[in-house]
Amino acid sequence: MCGIVGYIGTQPATDILMAGLERLEYRGYDSAGIATVWEGEIQCVRAKGKLYNLREKLERTDNQARLGIGHTRWATHGKPEEYNAHPHTDTHQRVAVVQNGIVENYRELREDLKKRGHEFRSDTDTEVIPHLIAEFLPEPSTPDFQHPNAFLDAVRQAVNQLHGAFAIAIICADYPDELIVARQQAPLILGFGQGEFFCASDTPALVPHTHAVLNLENGELARLTPLGAEVYNFAGERLRKFPRTLNWNPVQVEKQGFRHFMLKEIFEQPGVVRTCLEAYVSSDWSAGENDGSSAIPDQNPVAGDTPSITTPIQLGLPESLYENLEHVQILACGTSWHASLVGKYLIEQLAGIPTMVQYASEFRYAPSPLTRNTLTIGVTQSGETADTLAALEMEKRRRTGLGQEYQPRLVGITNRSESSLAHLVPHIIETFAGMEIGVAATKTFVTQLVVFYCLALDLAYQRQTLPPSRIAEIIAGLRQLPSQIELVLSRQEHYLEELAHEFDETQDFIFLGRGINFPIALEGALKLKEVSYIHAEGYPAGEMKHGPIALLDAKVPVVAIAMPGTVYEKVLSNAQEAKARDARLIGVTPMHDPEAAQTFDILLSVPVVEELLSPILAVMPLQLLAYHIAARRGLDVDQPRNLAKSVTVE
Ligand code: AGP
Repeated sequence: MCGIVGYIGTQPATDILMAGLERLEYRGYDSAGIATVWEGEIQCVRAKGKLYNLREKLERTDNQARLGIGHTRWATHGKPEEYNAHPHTDTHQRVAVVQNGIVENYRELREDLKKRGHEFRSDTDTEVIPHLIAEFLPEPSTPDFQHPNAFLDAVRQAVNQLHGAFAIAIICADYPDELIVARQQAPLILGFGQGEFFCASDTPALVPHTHAVLNLENGELARLTPLGAEVYNFAGERLRKFPRTLNWNPVQVEKQGFRHFMLKEIFEQPGVVRTCLEAYVSSDWSAGENDGSSAIPDQNPVAGDTPSITTPIQLGLPESLYENLEHVQILACGTSWHASLVGKYLIEQLAGIPTMVQYASEFRYAPSPLTRNTLTIGVTQSGETADTLAALEMEKRRRTGLGQEYQPRLVGITNRSESSLAHLVPHIIETFAGMEIGVAATKTFVTQLVVFYCLALDLAYQRQTLPPSRIAEIIAGLRQLPSQIELVLSRQEHYLEELAHEFDETQDFIFLGRGINFPIALEGALKLKEVSYIHAEGYPAGEMKHGPIALLDAKVPVVAIAMPGTVYEKVLSNAQEAKARDARLIGVTPMHDPEAAQTFDILLSVPVVEELLSPILAVMPLQLLAYHIAARRGLDVDQPRNLAKSVTVE
């Protein structure tokens, strides 16, 4: 949600800033801008729309500045127009600021600043920041102007007046050797090069230049100069901080021959599911011969060997998290919320623990009454979703200080182990999906599901709610999934590309599923609406007759997920009800199923697996369907309108 970059060093800043913004464009893309300090002045170039508009404008300028900041915007306050694009400057254009976040008290600040003669040129909350900083900067005629901390102190005083969640980068024409950055509840990472320093909202902007990075924490600011980086807290105390090394390959953020990142990421799913399973499923656990007993260790251990692993799943969580566990509550948004619904099904059905899934944005203002011995799981692929973080923080706060059985037990499931989530909760289960650039989540969703399978199996094993032989059977099924996903993708890619032609005029879709596949119907609908802008709704198949059936006619295709199991016949009957209203029926069904072939007009077949394991296969054709319909319509699949990859504002 808005991307910011900053550079100070020995190379022309403009090129580095533009390359960085290109890698952050997934965070927002309705306008963009850069500001540099060049020949004693702030040079600010901004453009409405996507980055190529800014690039075009920059081609007409010659700017050799070695210091600058850049921004790609996802509008919150003020329309996506050039005058609202960042960077924003103060009245005299000496200070320029880019921000990711929201300054909540901007109205009061703006009124006060206006009364003191500041001229505002935009509708944004951000614009108060350069004006406020300018107020704290010493006059050039005063001795304080030369003080080595003059600029840093001015920024520090200003950020102490801001309420909200923000990450900012600031330059000042009067201090051409300093780039100041600050973080409060929005991500900001510093990059360390040789005689050059960087800042960015996310690591993809840094990896081409350096692998030495430092994540700023809440309430910290930093001064970057060509000689080094210093970190301070908002009280002005210098902090000792050490960079870490990123184990990233820049190739991970290239399209590698695919037309879009979304398609590349769909095709990466067999690999990332395999990686995630390898990370958490023990390779040397066996169920033993005695079904019903607890699992047995290696029968013939060699003396001196490390004892064999006796648990099927290794999530690295402390035992205390599971002790006397009575409830699980899961907090998430969007696609992560859908994954959590599958998680609820698995935890309840395999481990027998009552589980609630809450929209984080709702929970934070209307939490359910406190339950005892409760495991709270925050699910967010980015680890930066403001609502999810705030809901977790609130849960932690309201439980702290209560009796033992109400103590917070917090776990995060994320694809970004270095994210804000990881700073908020003590235990992280990483999903190992690799960098996902497409705004529509695909591989991060599927790996979240894998993590939930592992968590539910671990709980089932620890609580002995399933016999080991059943756990072994599910694990064997999970291990088959990567090759089964490969099969679905290879068989359906061209078929769905062709099929997409048939929906050129379609304006509405309905997705139906039941049981463990109801969340997959929701996810199929969300994927389609996100990338194709077609109106799509997901429903539990049994609910259709209670209202949505009124929407059906020959123009509204119905996609039903019908996988053999407890609700198979029910879903087929619900599909028939739709067929009787002339709806075109598309079935995600098991291969070679005569009943399915009779019911559906179009078959999207997947390998035959037990119902419990079917969501990961069932979602594949739905992702491809959404992708091909959108690509065929010529839409910007990776950066759909109005969306952003990580929603770091409320
Ligand atoms: C997914 O396709 C969406 N872009 C969106 O719903 C997303 O899942 C949601 O914003 C939550 O993001 P998170 O997983 O990073 O918290």
